[in-house]
Amino acid sequence: MICPFVVLSLLVFGVAAAPLAPSQSSCLSIPIQKHVNVTGGHNLVNAGHSRARSFRDRTVSKHNSSTKRQEVPVVNEAITYIAEIAVGADNQTFHLLVDTGSSNTWVGANASYTYVPSSSSVWTDDIVIVDYGSGYFFGASFLTLSNDLVITNQSIGVADFQQGFTSMDGVLGIGPVDLTDGTILGSLAPVTTVPTVSDNLFNQGVISTEVIGVSFVPTTGAANEPDGELIFGDVGGSSRYTGQITYTCVTPSSPRETDYWGITQSISYGDTEIMASAIGVVDTGTTLNYMPTDTFNAYINTTGGIYDEVTGLYEITEEQYNALDDLIFIIGGTDFPLTPNAQIWPRDLNENIGGEAGKIYLAAVATEPVENLNFINGYVFLERYFSIFDNSNSRVGFAVTPYTNATTN
Ligand SMILES: *[C@@H]1O[C@H](CO)[C@@H](O)[C@H](O)[C@H]1NC(C)=O
Ligand SMILES: *[C@@H]1O[C@H](CO)[C@@H](O)[C@H](O)[C@H]1NC(C)=O
Ligand SMILES: *[C@@H]1O[C@H](CO)[C@@H](O)[C@H](O)[C@H]1NC(C)=O
Ligand SMILES: *[C@@H]1O[C@H](CO)[C@@H](O)[C@H](O)[C@H]1NC(C)=O
Ligand SMILES: *[C@@H]1O[C@H](CO)[C@@H](O)[C@H](O)[C@H]1NC(C)=O
Ligand SMILES: *[C@@H]1O[C@H](CO)[C@@H](O)[C@H](O)[C@H]1NC(C)=O
Ligand SMILES: *[C@@H]1O[C@H](CO)[C@@H](O)[C@H](O)[C@H]1NC(C)=O
Repeated sequence: MICPFVVLSLLVFGVAAAPLAPSQSSCLSIPIQKHVNVTGGHNLVNAGHSRARSFRDRTVSKHNSSTKRQEVPVVNEAITYIAEIAVGADNQTFHLLVDTGSSNTWVGANASYTYVPSSSSVWTDDIVIVDYGSGYFFGASFLTLSNDLVITNQSIGVADFQQGFTSMDGVLGIGPVDLTDGTILGSLAPVTTVPTVSDNLFNQGVISTEVIGVSFVPTTGAANEPDGELIFGDVGGSSRYTGQITYTCVTPSSPRETDYWGITQSISYGDTEIMASAIGVVDTGTTLNYMPTDTFNAYINTTGGIYDEVTGLYEITEEQYNALDDLIFIIGGTDFPLTPNAQIWPRDLNENIGGEAGKIYLAAVATEPVENLNFINGYVFLERYFSIFDNSNSRVGFAVTPYTNATTN
């Protein structure tokens, strides 16, 4: 069996080879492209379960050092959101997975396109382990995000080996910095966490508030999928959402912090509450919506869905689809309904997950709840609501978008 870790080394310091971009606005934005893998046979459900298991293991192992980390293929999904990032003095570009469920940033997932150290690169002896594959990395001195955004001294991993990443060059980790805790091994300095891209943007004065806005858009199946957008800093002027932002505090860190973007929500199907207020996570790296088994059963029994062995999803008939009610996530006192159309897997992509054209599959999955991890709101939710991850105020926000009620699926 292959070692289940990415092994990365940490940049201690770098030469500031590029000036910080003058910041005219207090926010910076980069497009994120949606990549749809059309080769089919993806097991979305298992990929999501593996990821949920890694969330759980981390939560548990933090309090029990004898608990082993598990091997987790983080990305084996039909849909991924990718940001193009330039690294080093020569602006070598990489396509990185945008991930709120991890916080280390690294490149080198594609063995045929490895990092070429630039004049600004600084190698370090430290090794970082992230539990989603395996490899080493050497530090690079700065990272550029689009043409007008430059971060100096950004620690970036360069993987010598990785597992589970097939269609990207690495990961742009935009989770809370605490998630990097414990990822450094053999550090000479007493470093325990690695400042994230958004930490550095904030600390270097490029953005005035440490906030990340994520705009995902539903898959249309068209050749030119609309781009999503990642906004660092003040999201106030964005046209990606309409109306008010509803904020909710991230869940308290005790007794067992999840480290992820943990929130409290309840779930109703139509007028019936199917999940009382509970803690779970919002995750840009999970495709489907995961909910507790009881909640899921109540939902499925009402919709009439039948389990489909091939896709691992529940199938409904056209008639049952027409009878669907809204599935409502209640967060911070505000209803965030998923319309019937928002509850189903994009029909144009049925074959990509091994399903049949013309059938209708519900894009929700049951998960066995553990303490502080009762649900995961994945793309299926995030493509309908703009999401805001606010480090400065330890809160998560959501707002309506032009796609909230779209019938693209
Ligand atoms: C980058 O690190 C070097 C060496 O530690 C330091 O001199 C420099 O001020 C840092 N630059 C920024 C922008 O933090
Ligand atoms: C810690 O994990 C080990 C191995 O999984 C388990 O046997 C032990 O009971 C756990 N200890 C606590 C305090 O949870
Ligand atoms: C790299 O990008 C930065 C920021 O856009 C720019 O200032 C610099 O000239 C570029 N360097 C090269 C070698 O292209
Ligand atoms: C890996 O990099 C090579 C060389 O740039 C490129 O041709 C190939 O398409 C890349 N593979 C993936 C999966 O991105
Ligand atoms: C698409 O997904 C399949 C199955 O996971 C994988 O083997 C293949 O490399 C992926 N293709 C691209 C271009 O990412
Ligand atoms: C849903 O139906 C299944 C099988 O009929 C049953 O075992 C389960 O208890 C039901 N769940 C709920 C919440 O009604
Ligand atoms: C979506 O539709 C619901 C009911 O059909 C309506 O109440 C709501 O205002 C709509 N939301 C948007 C953003 O259009």
